[in-house]
Amino acid sequence: MEKNLQTVLIEAKKDHFAVPAFNIVDYTSAAAVISAGEDEKTPIIMQTSTGTVKWYGAKHLAGMVAELKNSAKVPVFLHLDHCTEMDLAKECVDSGWDSIMFDGSKFPYEENVAKTREIVDYAHKKGLTVEGELGTIVGVEEEIQVDKAKLPSIDECIDFVEATGVDIFAPAIGTAHGLYSGEPKIDFDLVKEVSEKIKQPFVVHGGTGLDESTFKELVQLGASKINISTALKYAYYEGLDDYTKENGDKIAPVETEKAKYNAIKKMALYHIETFRV
Ligand code: 13P
Repeated sequence: MEKNLQTVLIEAKKDHFAVPAFNIVDYTSAAAVISAGEDEKTPIIMQTSTGTVKWYGAKHLAGMVAELKNSAKVPVFLHLDHCTEMDLAKECVDSGWDSIMFDGSKFPYEENVAKTREIVDYAHKKGLTVEGELGTIVGVEEEIQVDKAKLPSIDECIDFVEATGVDIFAPAIGTAHGLYSGEPKIDFDLVKEVSEKIKQPFVVHGGTGLDESTFKELVQLGASKINISTALKYAYYEGLDDYTKENGDKIAPVETEKAKYNAIKKMALYHIETFRV
């Protein structure tokens, strides 16, 4: 039987690296991050925002990347990122995703636990893993905007993981979605405590904009999944810009896709290398 995402993340922690989770937006970005993983012999998580799922439709999106995923030379997981809608989360469970993140952080604690538990029970019947979030991460991630960070205590983290049964855990630690306006204030003590006291793999959100030493410290402390979304979007447009600079207004859609692919792959390679300690 193939290893599930939780097992791969537990192994990554033992082997001192974190698996990158890139928010793909189309076929080209999916192909680029997988190719980077193959070059570096590292598992890859292709995350999809709910906005991306709604644009393509769950079944179409899963179908579009299925052959890339199945023929990859490294383990590749399709993961749903920050889903706040129960129906959409269940649709993805039924449409070919390997893992689901239910983001109940906008709900009061008890409701977050109950909703996360519901999706855990649903997803486990089909052998999927579930990621849960506690606390709030500032910034904008597709359709979700959060203005004020709220970090949980270690006791709240332990309680949440036990009550929900999540397989992968993403506590807010002071990182932000999108670009940082100042120096990020990361609670490394919380990272250390969670990673020591909670056996479920530790996820870092808001990877874009963290520097190399911060990434390495997070991996050293036990983070085994690090999310990168904004950097992929920047690479996407850099690829298009590079193409225009070199080719002016030449109309060649396949060539622009290649330029996008190259820029996204370069960004992915940088993160894969940085996430090893
Ligand atoms: P960034 O956009 O800051 O890389 O955050 C990605 C993320 O955490 C997606 O869930």
